[in-house]
Amino acid sequence: MAKARMTKAGTTHKTSVRYQSGFSNEFASEAVEGVLPRGQNSPQRVAHGLYAEQLSGTAFTAPRVSNRRTWLYRIRPSVAHKPFEFIGPKRLRSAPFDEVPTPPNQLRWTPIPIPPASDPTDFVDGLITMAGNGNTHTHTGVAIHIYVANRSMTNRFFYNADGEMLIVPQMGGLLLRTEMGPLEAAPGEIAVIQRGIRFRVELLEKEARGYICENYGALLRLPDLGPIGANGLANPRDFLSPVAEFEDREGDFRIATKFQGRLWSAAIDHSPLNVVAWHGNYVPYKYDLANFNCINTVTFDHPDPSIYTVLTSPSELPGTANFDFVIFPPRWMVAEHTFRPPWFHRNFMNEFMGLIHGEYDAKAEGFVPGGASLHNCMAGHGPDTETFEKASKADLKPVYLDETLAFMFETRFACQPTKFALETSQLDHQYFECWQGLRKKFKR
Ligand SMILES: [Fe+2]
Repeated sequence: MAKARMTKAGTTHKTSVRYQSGFSNEFASEAVEGVLPRGQNSPQRVAHGLYAEQLSGTAFTAPRVSNRRTWLYRIRPSVAHKPFEFIGPKRLRSAPFDEVPTPPNQLRWTPIPIPPASDPTDFVDGLITMAGNGNTHTHTGVAIHIYVANRSMTNRFFYNADGEMLIVPQMGGLLLRTEMGPLEAAPGEIAVIQRGIRFRVELLEKEARGYICENYGALLRLPDLGPIGANGLANPRDFLSPVAEFEDREGDFRIATKFQGRLWSAAIDHSPLNVVAWHGNYVPYKYDLANFNCINTVTFDHPDPSIYTVLTSPSELPGTANFDFVIFPPRWMVAEHTFRPPWFHRNFMNEFMGLIHGEYDAKAEGFVPGGASLHNCMAGHGPDTETFEKASKADLKPVYLDETLAFMFETRFACQPTKFALETSQLDHQYFECWQGLRKKFKR
């Protein structure tokens, strides 16, 4: 464990951002003491002339275990803005993903470049959709985006009415200023901003790139642990949520929203990040992937990749997630008489992979940090020729797999690439070559 903690931990920027810990707790936070009402949510008059507002993240009648809502005490209610107008989506796409036929091929991309300084691009303008599935109307499926940005959002705000956003920074840290307070997320960490929560994104470095899974389905939760027991994988206490911090700022601002697959924008004459106090369990959070308690074999073979699940969005089918977020962190490899990299496989589930840093143990080359791969339902894949040859002959002493942090967005529906994803020069047309050297070795 000590060794894992010495590898690239998430936080590259230590700032004064404060957090409260726990997963989906009933949090409470005040930026001004005495604002939160005692014993009720909606008093006749809120302290300091604030407005009370409830934000529901689930149906009112959702079972208690999955019910999410937060009470916000704010300078002006969130309804106070001009009407939304439709704006062009640039490279952002949404379900249904039917722009182009989905090929059954294994797909791989090199990193999408950051726009030049002459093309100022903030987090929202820099959203590029690679693939997706399901339907925003029926709250099923996901959209997978890559973001590339070179400037902060200052007078522009955003919320996503279609799904929650799991943000996986790959290059450059982000300061996510949300209604509930600020969150920092650097490469090696993740952040989740749920449906409807208003935020803006400041860059902590000159440029930023990362991956996003926009989850249309059930809110992400920690997976059940079964025989693992009460502890392990991602532990609840390592999830961090913001403390209240507000902007009392007026000016000529815009608020953008993604609603039913399209982008809209409205004029707003004040910052919507004006929540002075709040309480509830519908709150953005961050998690440092270095805290993942990775469980693996200590005898032979290796478990299915579900053992690496950080968060899951269940569907109505038991055990068949709408979306799982899975990581492949630094770890010891000790399996005896075993082919240690991932085996050759074809799956029911669909796998979009990204690499945050280092190398992935199934590929000798071609899968690089910031890049991506997609292996859809029943597409054969696995180690490339070089990895297979090396791992088949490796001396099986304990090996610490260092300098690696890959992840997978695993979904129950095939990920249908966008037109951009299939036409971009970042698509690796030679990907299939990495398996062509797997010659016949069979001897009678
Ligand atoms: Fe796979």
